[in-house]
Amino acid sequence: MQTILAETDHPDRLKAAVSKAVELLARGETVALPTETVYGLAADAMNPEAVAKIFAAKERPSFDPLIVHLPHRDRLTDVAIVPDDIAKAVAQIIDHFWPGPLTLVLPKNPVVPDIVTAGLPTVAVRMSANPIFRRVITSLARPLAAPSANRFGHISPTSAAAVLKELDGRIPLVVDGGACHQGIESTIIKIVSRGESKPLLRVLRAGPVTKEDLQPFGKVEFANEVTEKTEVPGQIASHYAPRTPLRLLASPDDFTPEPGKRYALLSYRGDAEDGYLPLTDWHFSLTLSPGNGKLPEAAVRFFHCLRQLDECGADEIVAEPVPDRGMGVAILERLRRAAGQRQDEK
Ligand code: TXA
Ligand code: MG
Repeated sequence: MQTILAETDHPDRLKAAVSKAVELLARGETVALPTETVYGLAADAMNPEAVAKIFAAKERPSFDPLIVHLPHRDRLTDVAIVPDDIAKAVAQIIDHFWPGPLTLVLPKNPVVPDIVTAGLPTVAVRMSANPIFRRVITSLARPLAAPSANRFGHISPTSAAAVLKELDGRIPLVVDGGACHQGIESTIIKIVSRGESKPLLRVLRAGPVTKEDLQPFGKVEFANEVTEKTEVPGQIASHYAPRTPLRLLASPDDFTPEPGKRYALLSYRGDAEDGYLPLTDWHFSLTLSPGNGKLPEAAVRFFHCLRQLDECGADEIVAEPVPDRGMGVAILERLRRAAGQRQDEK
């Protein structure tokens, strides 16, 4: 199959790209689209044959459920059921965070095909804020299933070029919307009622919506490895894996280079005072947030830098830790997975 790259850098080209995407999606094909987090590989969520093409292109195992994206917040109950005991919290959270990088896991509306949810009784739902994604989904006026547009377990794509590296020849169209603004996948939460008190917000995957952002809406708790295994079937340890082995350091003292080995450094601030830069004669190095260290900047650059380091010919990637707060929590979670560490080993 030939993969077409549709540009959107002129109003006419944008219009043509959106029409082509809508036409393909309406015919049950897959299309890679930009979202504010990472690029997604979309298909009509209500068409099981279309959704099967996502699993085939990504080589994704059928046990790993997909996120469903809505054209409008009023369409939530088309795909999900909102239990009475959390209805108020769901409304408040949606009002505040949608459209945006927050995914809610809710009981599934039985009309959603089982292939989308991997047979689970729940469905993960979000509404993207990306203007190109919104144009496509509102023209189509149907929910879209869209996981990240990478082959299963690989690094998520934050540019159209990265999507092509992952899926060229496997899908008919990539819409190029430039670099993703957030750079890491949406925060996934489950809302659990606590009677009269504010609900429990269980974070199943850390992301751009941070603990601090969620706190006004309930008691925030991060799922541990035991619950995650059953609650987020796709979050297996080796996720986001570069082909080059990666190790995440806790402190510069953790590292002694082996002679003859080429190491690439993923630095946070690129500052020698942090103690990581002087550790070795790096084969290659990239900095997530050059200068003063800003976590949202680090998040935007994270997958892009990881991909470049993976391609630089090093024997091993060495990653500095980032601060364990704000969006740093999400970056660290991904670094641990890229390093193949289990969450309970952190
Ligand atoms: O930002 C994002 O969320 C991106 C963009 C494209 O929207 N999508 C994304 O999808 O990251 P994906 O498939 O790469 O990751 C979705 C995660 C998987 O780990 C999956 O297991 C989990 O969401 N998930 C999906 N449905 C679920 C459900 N019903 N319960 C728990 N976890 C679920
Ligand atoms: Mg993914």
